[in-house]
Amino acid sequence: MTKLAPSLLSADFANLQRDMEQAKENGCEWLHYDVMDGMFVPNISMGIPVLKSIRKATDLTLDVHLMVERPIRYVEQFVKAGADWLTVHVEADTEENTLAALDQIHALGCKAAVSLKPKTPAEAVKPFLKKCDMILVMTVEPGFGGQKFMEDMMPKLRTLRKMLDAENPGCILEVDGGIDANTFRVCRENGAEVFVAGSAYFGAPDKAAFVRTLQGE
Ligand code: DX5
Ligand code: ZN
Repeated sequence: MTKLAPSLLSADFANLQRDMEQAKENGCEWLHYDVMDGMFVPNISMGIPVLKSIRKATDLTLDVHLMVERPIRYVEQFVKAGADWLTVHVEADTEENTLAALDQIHALGCKAAVSLKPKTPAEAVKPFLKKCDMILVMTVEPGFGGQKFMEDMMPKLRTLRKMLDAENPGCILEVDGGIDANTFRVCRENGAEVFVAGSAYFGAPDKAAFVRTLQGE
């Protein structure tokens, strides 16, 4: 089954509780939470205190996407603040530190994932493949919502699905960036199972219908 994770980056920050409750009523099980440090990406979003607050306000699965330099510095704080899944970027630190971050995430009882920017090849996940519960493929340059979907990421998605089938079949593939009802189909055909959508979900005239489309009627 496919899953939609609405990206709170496109929510109304003054009404996060309302938007999260609505996502649940609309049939979502996951919420995506983007953390940006102004260094790894040229934007700043939300951090640890906001995650702590929303953890108290929702029982949905919180899928936290760290777009920060040397994420190992903050792994423990984000897990303790309420992340159920924690994703770090392979480009954000050394291989050794990324491996240590994944171990730390698991030791804290959280699911662990790595993400790839568009220019990073599929092979970059190899050292981490066995330690991941999910791989997040960026289908836009990370940093901003509302960008155009990069269809040229599809060969990478297929390559990753093959690598996972061979080495870690239980590992999930997630896509993030420019996902709408059309691009979702393209990604699903190429092996994605979890779909992050910010502007398309929050901008949909009928959000419940959008959720039904992405999660299968
Ligand atoms: C971008 C973020 C995304 C963003 C997606 O760097 O990682 O999660 O919210 O937004 P849309 O769906 O509008 O492309
Ligand atoms: Zn994201």
